[in-house]
Amino acid sequence: MSMKIPFFNNKQSKEFFHYPEDHTPDHIAIIMDGNGRWAGKRGMPRVAGHKEGLSAVVKIVKAAVKCKVKVLTLYTFSTENWKRPKPEIDFILRLPKEFLHIYLPDLIANNVRIEAIGDMENLPAYTRESVQFAIDRTRDNDGLQLNFALNYGSRREILNAMKKMFTDINDAKLSMDEVDEQQFSEYLNTAGMSDPDLLIRTGGEKRLSNFLLWQLAYTEFWFTDVLWPDFSEKEFLHALEEYRQRKRRYGGI
Ligand code: IPE
Ligand code: IPE
Ligand code: MG
Repeated sequence: MSMKIPFFNNKQSKEFFHYPEDHTPDHIAIIMDGNGRWAGKRGMPRVAGHKEGLSAVVKIVKAAVKCKVKVLTLYTFSTENWKRPKPEIDFILRLPKEFLHIYLPDLIANNVRIEAIGDMENLPAYTRESVQFAIDRTRDNDGLQLNFALNYGSRREILNAMKKMFTDINDAKLSMDEVDEQQFSEYLNTAGMSDPDLLIRTGGEKRLSNFLLWQLAYTEFWFTDVLWPDFSEKEFLHALEEYRQRKRRYGGI
C-alpha cells in the first residue's frame, strides 16, 4: 500500500512558490510520459515508474487546485497502450482505483469534480467502476474538473463523433446545414469542455501520441525532458509562467 501524501500540508510550497492569479490557463492537458525510463534508470521494473508517477499526479492535482485551474486533463492510458505487456497494462489500469481509494475524500473536500474521456466500456471493471463511482460522487462539485483520459485515442474519438453525427443526420435529428465546428465538438468526449489552453508533455518526446488532435488546434505547447515521476510543483509553475509570456494570436496580428 502506498503512503498517503496529504493534499494541503505542504508548507514549503506556500513559502517558496508564488501563485499569480491572472493569465492562468483555464484548461491544462498533460501527457504524463517517462515513467518506464524513470524506473529503468534506477534498475527498477517499469511498473515502479508508474507507481511513482502516481505521486506526481497527487502533487500536480494539488498545485492545479491552488492555481485555480478549471480543467486538468491527464493522459493516463492511450488506445495504443494495449500494445504493452499484459502485466504492465494491468498495473496501470489498477492505479485509478488505488488513487481514488486513497484520495477521493481529499478530492471531495477540495471541491474537485472527476470526469473521464475515452472508451470506458472496454476497460476492466475495477477501473471503470471506481472511476464511475468517483464521477457520480463528485458530480455536483464546481472546483477543479479532473479529467482522466483512459483508453483514449483521438482518432477513434473523432471517428465515433462522426458516426454519431451521421446517425443523427440520418434520423433527421440534425440537418447538414447545422453542422459546424461548434456542433461537431458536441459529439466529442470533451463536449462542454473548453479546449486546452496549455499542453504539457514530460519525458522529452515531442509528439501528440494521438491525444486531443481536434481540441489542441490552438493550444500552447510546453515540453520538458523531466520524466513524469520527477515532475514537481516547481516545473508545473514554470510551465504556467512560460504560458503567461506567450502571445496567443489565433491567426490574427
Ligand atoms: C507514461 O510513461 C505512462 C503511460 C504511457 C501509461 P511510459 O510508460 O510511456 O514511460 P516511458 O516513455 O517508457 O519512459
Ligand atoms: C502517451 O505516452 C500516452 C500516455 C502518456 C498515456 P506513450 O509513451 O504511450 O507515447 P509514445 O508511444 O511514446 O508515442
Ligand atoms: Mg512513453
